[in-house]
Amino acid sequence: MSLPKNVTESQALPRDCTFSASDWQVLSPFWYPVAISEEVKDKPVPVKLPDVKLVCYRSRGQVVIARDLCFHRGAPLSKGWVENDEIVCPYHGFRYNCDGVCTAVPAHPASKISPKLKLITYPSIERYGFIWTSLAGTEPNLPAFAGWDDPDYLNVLPPGFDIAGSAGRQMEGFLDVSHFAFVHTETFGDRNNTEVPQYKVTREGSVLSADYWSTVSNYGKGQENPAPEGFMWLRAFRVFAPFAATLTVHFPNDGKLIILNFASPVSARYTRLFCPIARNFDKSVPIEEIVKFNLQVFQEDREMVESQTPEDLPLDLAAEAHIPADRTSIAYRQLLSELGLGRNYTS
Ligand code: FES
Repeated sequence: MSLPKNVTESQALPRDCTFSASDWQVLSPFWYPVAISEEVKDKPVPVKLPDVKLVCYRSRGQVVIARDLCFHRGAPLSKGWVENDEIVCPYHGFRYNCDGVCTAVPAHPASKISPKLKLITYPSIERYGFIWTSLAGTEPNLPAFAGWDDPDYLNVLPPGFDIAGSAGRQMEGFLDVSHFAFVHTETFGDRNNTEVPQYKVTREGSVLSADYWSTVSNYGKGQENPAPEGFMWLRAFRVFAPFAATLTVHFPNDGKLIILNFASPVSARYTRLFCPIARNFDKSVPIEEIVKFNLQVFQEDREMVESQTPEDLPLDLAAEAHIPADRTSIAYRQLLSELGLGRNYTS
């Protein structure tokens, strides 16, 4: 199939695309994390970003990201291996260097190789413990994540967390402040503390900010809670469209817990959550304990995100009912609409 003029191979709609064509065109140029840096060595790893199958590996220590497709007979390179800094296709042994150029066709070792025999490669960067890429190779514009590079903060990197739900629904759940008392009763929520005080959402450029003050504690159930009676907890949200947000929870004694929530859209109905955490207190607590607690919180949210109807996030504000507590999610839906996503952005 030939591509329309001015559409490069890397911008063509993927096979079996689960997004509408226009939504895919809007979402695909953004930078997304695809893997945890230290998990990618010289063994090829298959990843998917919105609906495009990619292979990720290291060659000479550098990350290589390419379409997971050998153009000889369509075999997935992620089933191959890396040898002498080149990826080897598992079907007929073609080899490709880190620029994606084919360097060997074992069936015809003496023949000249067409320079057209080349993989589609993508740019990559490593940041906040992840490998990021963009299908359109646009300028990287990653969300700010204070605390990660600050020696005063402990960095925690939970494993990538898979959700059979849309990135928009997951993001909205992260921004939702009225579900703590119902969804997170096993971890930090309090069924007797349901009221959501007024709060404001402001916007600077394309970044949303919501500073939410309440008495809902962020200490885990069973944890020592040194907060004085009536302590007001500040949860400061910053939202970066389409699928990133940070939350800074202000603990007693200037303690800060900063979470980056990045919902990477594997497809319209499948999301890989990357969620690094930085905090400047209780730094001697074993990392495994912090990861375990956060995985439990993610699991509680996942059950809801995977069962909501419709599965996609309705951007038409008339499609669902709203309450004052939903201010952030309403502003988030408006932000996604402004990007050019459809009313039901994945429909
Ligand atoms: Fe890759 Fe044949 S399919 S070498």
